[in-house]
Order: sequence, then C-alpha cells, then structure tokens
Amino acid sequence: MARAPTDDTASADGASAEGVTVASALESARRSLLSQESAALDAQLLLAQALQRSRSWLLAHADATLDSATRDAFAVLLARRVAGEPLAYITGRREFWSLTLAVNNAVLVPRPETELLVERALALLPKAAAWVADLGTGSGAIALALASERPDWQLTAIDQSSAALAVASSNAHELGLSNLQFLTSDWFSSLAGERFDLLVSNPPYIAESDPALLDLALQHEPRTALSSGPEGLDALRVIIAGATTQLLPGGWLLLEHGATQAAAVATMLVAQGFTHVRCHADLAGLPRVTEAQRT
Ligand SMILES: C[S@@+](CC[C@H](N)C(=O)[O-])C[C@H]1O[C@@H](n2cnc3c(N)ncnc32)[C@H](O)[C@@H]1O
Repeated sequence: MARAPTDDTASADGASAEGVTVASALESARRSLLSQESAALDAQLLLAQALQRSRSWLLAHADATLDSATRDAFAVLLARRVAGEPLAYITGRREFWSLTLAVNNAVLVPRPETELLVERALALLPKAAAWVADLGTGSGAIALALASERPDWQLTAIDQSSAALAVASSNAHELGLSNLQFLTSDWFSSLAGERFDLLVSNPPYIAESDPALLDLALQHEPRTALSSGPEGLDALRVIIAGATTQLLPGGWLLLEHGATQAAAVATMLVAQGFTHVRCHADLAGLPRVTEAQRT
C-alpha cells in the first residue's frame, strides 16, 4: 500500500520537486470528479485511503507533500471513481445506522433510506424477545442494525447469493454480533415451518426495462439485487404471498419499494389478507416503506 509522508516536509523520493501537496492533489481530484455529487468529499476519502490516514489528518496537513507511491495509488483509486464505481466498493466500507460495514461488489451498497426500515422495525416491535427475518440481506445491513439494537432478538438473515452471505456473516463477526444466523435461501425456500414476529425486506424492485439501470453506478452493483420482473414487483409479490404463512398471528411485514409502487404493494397486501397497511415516506418525502400486519 502507499506510504504516508511522516511529516509536513517532502519525502525523500523527489516528491518535493513535483510539489504535489495534499491540498493541490485534492483540488485536482475534485475537478476530475465534478460529475459526482460529492466530489470534494469523495476526493478526501480516496486520498485518505491512499495515505492510510483519516480525513481529519488530511485537513490538518494540507501542505504535506505526497511521495510518488502515494500519488500513484491515489491516481488508481481516482480513476475507478471517475469511471463511476461506487465509492463504497473502492474504500471497501460503508456506514449504515450506527455501524461500519465491509462491502464489495457481491452486495448492494446499503442506502441511507433503508434505515427507515430499521426505524419502523424497532417501533413496531418494542418487546424484548422476537424472531425476525431479513429477506435478501446483502451486506447484512438491516439484520446487523437490528441485532445491534435488540440483543434479545434472534435474527435470521437469508439471501440467494452465497457471496453476499459471506460478506454479511463476516460483518457480524467483525461487529461481535452473535444473535444472527445466515442462510442461503430463495426467499422462503430454507425457512419451511419457521414462523416470525417480523419479516423485513429491501428486495430488488426496479423494473427490468427502467432506464435507471443504465446509471453508471448501478451497473457496478449486482443486477439480482436491483431488478425483479417487468414492473419490478416480482420479488415483492413472492414475499407478500409467502409472508402469510411465515408470520406468527399479529406479526408484521415491513417492505422497502420504489416510490411509484406504494399503491401496487398495498393492493397485494390487502389481497393477501393483511391489515394495518401503512406507507411511510423517506427523508425526501417519497413513499418508500410499507408495513402491514397478519391478523
Ligand atoms: C436491494 S438488495 C438489499 C440488500 C440489503 N438488504 C440492503 O438493504 O442493503 C436485495 C437483495 O436480495 C437478494 N435476492 C434477490 N433475489 C433473491 C431471492 N430469490 N431470494 C433471496 N434473496 C434474493 C439479492 O442477492 C440482494 O442481496
């Protein structure tokens, strides 16, 4: 990995002749990243990664010069970001809820709006002990957030992708969380006979023909994590139907979906006999999470 300068002076390999400082490297990177929403922050996180330093170190050492190994490492990281690769895949980390999760391109990068599922799960089930399943766990984001907040809950996290489950179980190990089990499963296929107080899922829900899938960032993420059927409703339909037998009486189903899918999701839930169907808006005011109860 790249070497960090040990102080604010040039390193011994001639970097001073080039005069590339932390500040000038960041400014030049910011300009090449202008198409990204958070160009300045991305530049800082990438240079921090190349230097194996914190962002606060960068800010305190704006005049420090970079040695050639650091400059090369930074250029490689920057090129990946300019090509549209999500920052989280480059740094290998993503913050979700109160946790830092390892991620790679086998899993969806956890999104801030998915934290609404965690909030609603905690609000719906205040009781101490509960059986909860996270369907399509990916990096484990939802299951791990719930396991950390509710040590008395038993979490079952499933995914059809064994590569994703490897990431999720490694995250659980790194976070020291043991109230979870991870299972390879095509939705409910490995859960026969099990009943839960709460089923939570952020399934794939983008329509297969949605031009949003052409977005450069989305093209780096697993397609099976993103799209599901012509209207994006196939996975949601399977989960809603299966939940009728996998939930305990009075149990809750909590689903993330697209902003235009709330009505279709509510219709499917009512058709399957769910009650207390209620949709919640995300921070952008969009209807993105629906809950319903099995009575
Ligand atoms: C939108 S991602 C959500 C990942 C994670 N829960 C999150 O919120 O960041 C959907 C997940 O569902 C998984 N998945 C897709 N089809 C599945 C299936 N038939 N059975 C189980 N999991 C599936 C994908 O592998 C992916 O990890």
